[in-house]
Amino acid sequence: MTSYKELGLVNTKDLFKKAVSGGYAIPAYNFNNMEQMQAIIQACVETKSPVILQVSAGARKYANQNILRNMARGAVEYAIELGHNIPIALHLDHGDTFEICKDCIETGFSSVMIDGSHLPYEENVALTKKVCEFAHSQKDYVTVEGELGVLAGVEDDVSSEHSHYTEPSEVVDFVSKTKVDSLAISIGTSHGRAKFKPEQCTKDANGILIPPPLRFDILEEIEKQIPGFPIVLHGSSSVPIEYVQIIEKFGGKLSDSVGIPEDQLRKAAKSAVCKINIDSDGRLAMTAIIRQVFTQKPDEFDPRKYLGPARDELKKLYAHKNLNVLGSAGQA
Ligand code: G3H
Ligand code: 13P
Ligand code: ZN
Repeated sequence: MTSYKELGLVNTKDLFKKAVSGGYAIPAYNFNNMEQMQAIIQACVETKSPVILQVSAGARKYANQNILRNMARGAVEYAIELGHNIPIALHLDHGDTFEICKDCIETGFSSVMIDGSHLPYEENVALTKKVCEFAHSQKDYVTVEGELGVLAGVEDDVSSEHSHYTEPSEVVDFVSKTKVDSLAISIGTSHGRAKFKPEQCTKDANGILIPPPLRFDILEEIEKQIPGFPIVLHGSSSVPIEYVQIIEKFGGKLSDSVGIPEDQLRKAAKSAVCKINIDSDGRLAMTAIIRQVFTQKPDEFDPRKYLGPARDELKKLYAHKNLNVLGSAGQA
């Protein structure tokens, strides 16, 4: 049994309180390996931003949960070594059973998501409540994120072809029955790099797909129901066209890529949305640089020579998001 405090981590309680009142969002960046973790910490130290390190089911399978939580401990020491002791939370992304949440809580995660969004409403309430009771009764309070409404695309092992928006009339009941600390909602985002079908989009003069706007009317309705309550946005990668173009220039094929425009995320971050989840953009940045190095330096075979530049690009991307999109820069 390890408490997150022993690893130097914080839960999300205070982070969210400050973010909601300050009109910004905490970045929640997924990580699976050392280079991603280093890039996240470098960017967040440089921009003085709090950060949530997210671990998905896929990450636990790929990298091993024990290694990842020790990397989070390393991240805390790394931040101090880089010169600024930023608050770092370690969060389970899309936990789908009580047992997975319990296991993460007992091994040092400071926050967990229980994703019962695919279940019938009452089952979602019961499962989320059970996780909250366990998480909140720990010696060191662990925060819990629940979800209402379904995002299209892959949510780890849970996948859904169609999204359905969060029903504002359900949020008061869900939050009061479960006692969740934050609520993930569905207002038009989805996971992955192709968030909308081309037929849902318009095209600009250069033929670039322009997605339909997020449903800010639903967000406003939810905020009226639970004023000041911490809201989470999943599926918030912007899918920068520059990375897609580099990937395609150097042999990749990522047809119909489209993400959430940065100005919409900025607008959301100014509201009660206080956690914004980003994974796909990091994947695109790394892949773009690695493909470029492979093509331009065909005799290169030292992994540090392509993972290093990929890490540098990732750091630039995360710093940009903290500064210009989420508004979390300068908040740590
Ligand atoms: O929610 C989805 C995240 O991007 C995690 O995806 O299960 O492939 O690690 P993953
Ligand atoms: P993206 O696929 O848009 O990066 O979303 C990631 C996410 O929501 C992780 O939970
Ligand atoms: Zn997600």
